[in-house]
Amino acid sequence: MDDKTLTIEFVRVTEHAAIASAKHIGRGDEKAADKAAVDSMRSSLDFIDIDGTIVIGEGERDQAPMLYIGEKVGSGKGQKVDIAVDPLEGTTICAQGGSNSISVMAIADHGHFLHAPDTYMDKIAVGPKAKGSIDLNLGVSENLHRIAEALNRYVEDLTVVILNRERHQNLIKEVRDTGARIKLIQDGDISGAIATAKEETGVDVLMGIGGAPEGVISAAALRCIGGDIQGKLSFRSDEEKKRAKKMGIEDFDKIYNINELASGDVIFAATGVTSGEYLPGVVFFPGGAKTNSVVMRSKTKTVRYIEAFHYFDYKDVI
Ligand code: FBP
Repeated sequence: MDDKTLTIEFVRVTEHAAIASAKHIGRGDEKAADKAAVDSMRSSLDFIDIDGTIVIGEGERDQAPMLYIGEKVGSGKGQKVDIAVDPLEGTTICAQGGSNSISVMAIADHGHFLHAPDTYMDKIAVGPKAKGSIDLNLGVSENLHRIAEALNRYVEDLTVVILNRERHQNLIKEVRDTGARIKLIQDGDISGAIATAKEETGVDVLMGIGGAPEGVISAAALRCIGGDIQGKLSFRSDEEKKRAKKMGIEDFDKIYNINELASGDVIFAATGVTSGEYLPGVVFFPGGAKTNSVVMRSKTKTVRYIEAFHYFDYKDVI
């Protein structure tokens, strides 16, 4: 992707989607919040001069009316790119007015994202200083000791972020047995993965099973910040395996490294919907809204934080 001006175009897309879903914060309606983000993202994308294809989206064509896998987006005039979107990551968080929901997208040259089926993925992610120390083939304790060594810290000083789910009971016990601290999150493991790359969050590692599409988007972000992630697909049914096969997955036990999840020149953009560790959320004021976003690129490793003021009387797309 040669055109660096595209980075700002992509932030506009997540800004608009964040504002659209933020109108539903705390109203208890996850579907409405998600739909608002999806509708907004879909219409904003067509303003950009790209020949884009959604490769990670709202689901397969028969499951999603918009932003489905394989859908063409953009004006069709520019570069051929693949796009991974999560218009509202943390739908429940947003509906409940909790923290850490974001609108997010990642873009790569055609063919550079894993076509991840809508199943689960077992993940381990770390920030730049622990890059190269993780290995999903190894146990929890061994990984944490390797990470601690890379960070020149004691295992007891590490904080591991884990989705608070029944399926993680054993993982939580194993982590606690090492002496490491745990931060349980209700939702939003893309934010959890990114947090490992920002020292002031105090988070060192993300572990556990979350969405596979979120794993690919997290890999795109970590490619830009210099962190690391590995993922292994985790299927809930034979039906999911069938769908995965249709999408080209042959080896169900493969452990994907960061470059197999997202390779080449990647752009990642996210806007906070509700405030979290990484980004402040949308703030409405009379006649408009303020957003905070981050946009980054793997090629240059530039990370830009953008605070924007939007005045609704002068906007077409929100
Ligand atoms: P949504 O935004 O689609 O609600 O996903 C939130 C999330 O917490 C992801 O961050 C995570 O990867 C996934 O759900 C985990 O799935 P589950 O809620 O089924 O455990």
